Amino acid sequence: MKGLILSGGRGTRLRPLTYTSAKQLVPVANKPVLFYGIEAIAEAGITDIGIVVGDTQAEIRAAVGDGSRWGVTVQYIEQDAPRGLAHAVKISRDYIGNEPFVMYLGDNLLNKGITQFVREFEAQKPAAQILLTRVPDPQMFGVAQLENGKVVRLVEKPKEPIGDLALVGVYMFGPDVFESVNRITPSVRNELEITDAIQDLIDRGLTVRPHIVEGWWKDTGKLEDMLEANRLILDTLERRIEGDVDAESRVEGKVVIEKGAVVERSIIRGPAIIGHGARIVHAYVGPFTSIGNEVEIKDTEVEHSIVLEGACLRDLANRVIDSLIGRNVRIWREPVKPSAYRFMLGDNSEVGIRW
Ligand code: TTP
Repeated sequence: MKGLILSGGRGTRLRPLTYTSAKQLVPVANKPVLFYGIEAIAEAGITDIGIVVGDTQAEIRAAVGDGSRWGVTVQYIEQDAPRGLAHAVKISRDYIGNEPFVMYLGDNLLNKGITQFVREFEAQKPAAQILLTRVPDPQMFGVAQLENGKVVRLVEKPKEPIGDLALVGVYMFGPDVFESVNRITPSVRNELEITDAIQDLIDRGLTVRPHIVEGWWKDTGKLEDMLEANRLILDTLERRIEGDVDAESRVEGKVVIEKGAVVERSIIRGPAIIGHGARIVHAYVGPFTSIGNEVEIKDTEVEHSIVLEGACLRDLANRVIDSLIGRNVRIWREPVKPSAYRFMLGDNSEVGIRW
């Protein structure tokens, strides 16, 4: 069995971060989202993983390498443009050969892993197996309709209610899927849709099995979901303090402070993580915050946020909350008149000022 991780795509919902970086490499609790997927696949005993890459391939190759860090062998499959999930399957034919495979969307996170899901597929050998979760707003998702324990229909963003079982970004396929991805045509958004390919399997009388996800699942494709994933992962961390914390600071609850981080005259209230080389001085880092490596937080309060490597927040009068702050971003207060906002922001940046 092989693994296929989809790590191309446009990432429009996470602009401006995705202008300069792959969304699959945005860290959740200071670890790239993609690494959680590789770990889940490796944990299920799969050692050959193909990663579909697009424009951001250089960065992904640099971060993942040959996979030996996880005891797996990674090969890269280049997709010329984001032409859809089923297109990614189509171009992976040579890599996959005739083996069954698990396909994992590189920006998805599952807390209970996929081992059980993979074992069930191996035992039952259907043409495909899809992972489903109950959602309160099925009209926003691809939704599966079940009958007698089998999937009978898939509908993308259903207008009429057909149940609340949404597709999660992990799928398993046998070789029949390659015929289906060749039979389907592009959708209105001009992509080859994986739901159409699975529907084609059903229409050809092949078995598509459902598997309801245990634990939580998150697609980190947009800011709110990224923050929620960060919250969920931080909550699972064990307290570990390896950096330097002075006597005037307080570190409360589940907090990780990496080696080489410095905390002075500050309060860190977990769950939170502080990366190596970070400097937290006369600051407050509140619950559900990930502070990246080499970040500086000085005379500033930050909570429920992700701050990426090399960023600097200084002397801010109000607490920073619900934020995703990119690499090397600098936000500071200048004690000069006139008081004003002064910005230099990339395209599609967002600034929210609350009174
Ligand atoms: P999506 O999040 O559905 O698509 P996207 O990355 O284009 O994002 P946005 O809607 O914000 O523009 O993709 C799910 C995952 O699959 C993600 O990791 C990117 C990857 N992907 C590919 O590798 N190839 C593709 O053709 C597409 C559509 C997605």
